[in-house]
Amino acid sequence: MRIGVLTGGGDCPGLNAVIRAVAKSLMVQCGAEVIGFEEGFLGLIERRYRKLDYRDVSGILAQGGTILGTHNRANPFNYYLEGGADVSDRVLGLYKELGLDAIVVIGGDGTMSMAYRMQQMGVNIVGVPKTIDNDLMETDRTFGFDTAVAIASEAIDRLQTTGQSHGRIMIVETMGRYTGWIALHAGIAGGADVILLPEFPYDLEEVARVCREREGRQRFTIIAVAEGATAKDGEMVVRERDESSPDPLRLGGIGNLLREQLKPLVDSEIRTTILGHVQRGGTPTAFDRVLSTNFGCFAASLIAKKQFGRMVALKDNHMTSVPLIDVADKTRLVPENSFMVTSAAAVGVSFGVSPEGFEIANLGSSIPLE
Ligand code: F6P
Repeated sequence: MRIGVLTGGGDCPGLNAVIRAVAKSLMVQCGAEVIGFEEGFLGLIERRYRKLDYRDVSGILAQGGTILGTHNRANPFNYYLEGGADVSDRVLGLYKELGLDAIVVIGGDGTMSMAYRMQQMGVNIVGVPKTIDNDLMETDRTFGFDTAVAIASEAIDRLQTTGQSHGRIMIVETMGRYTGWIALHAGIAGGADVILLPEFPYDLEEVARVCREREGRQRFTIIAVAEGATAKDGEMVVRERDESSPDPLRLGGIGNLLREQLKPLVDSEIRTTILGHVQRGGTPTAFDRVLSTNFGCFAASLIAKKQFGRMVALKDNHMTSVPLIDVADKTRLVPENSFMVTSAAAVGVSFGVSPEGFEIANLGSSIPLE
């Protein structure tokens, strides 16, 4: 058996742990040869690959980033280096030439969409869900998310002591693209007073009301805002556009905008911290190392059973898999009826919207946590 592996899209803690688990499981249990493609689909397009031996994938479990490299813009159906040309036949050609039995594609929704299209052309694919944003459909978790949450909540802890000392409003902006999973989890873990998510456009007056109320008592306020959050009738703050990328928008800056919006409405000084890529760097948490290892091993098992065109998933504490088409180009949002939102509201967190609808007395006897 000869299996390819690549990492696509933005990097994420746990990528190396997945590569290690896929490669070791396949080498040891199936006697497979493993080929690593460099920089995602770019390696398949530009014929950049190398054979991975056991030593290459040893000692990388705790290493951040990806030993294979990754690339945001390497789309075989719209290749940025050749004016948006469809070069997918080149990928198929190399796949056949190398005599590959399958490729393990580790990536987010955009990468899964490319993987699905390659599968349609006859390339056997198994996907592994990666992203700090935790926004992939059909899986309860993506690896990398736990690490990002740990980093963001530690940042909130640190901002809390300085905010408290000065009696300031501290705004912390998390990543997460169009979803608020990181802000929600880190905000709860860090004891934020206000959590603003793209899923619930905020009412500025409500946010200011919470800050003013706290000015009279605790004197400081922590606001966790997801980069994709917007005010009611407002728009997402776009930091830059990259038209050659499958997702051209780069978000960032809502924390600064919110500071300007709040200034005339409160007495306290306001400071904004944008966490940015620090949330994606460094070693994965123990949880992400374990999840990545399980995902990688399960991907290898799908290959051993010749179950292709599927993405590994974690659902209700079960390792399972779902068709790539169910994940491609889709986004999993924080649902309004999630218990996490209700429980945060119950302990006094404001989501910048009216607290109606979050009453614990109305909860059913069994409800989804997220
Ligand atoms: O999808 C992961 C992510 O880190 C998002 O949270 C963020 O919006 C985006 O990638 C940043 O992309 P880039 O690394 O291209 O700036």
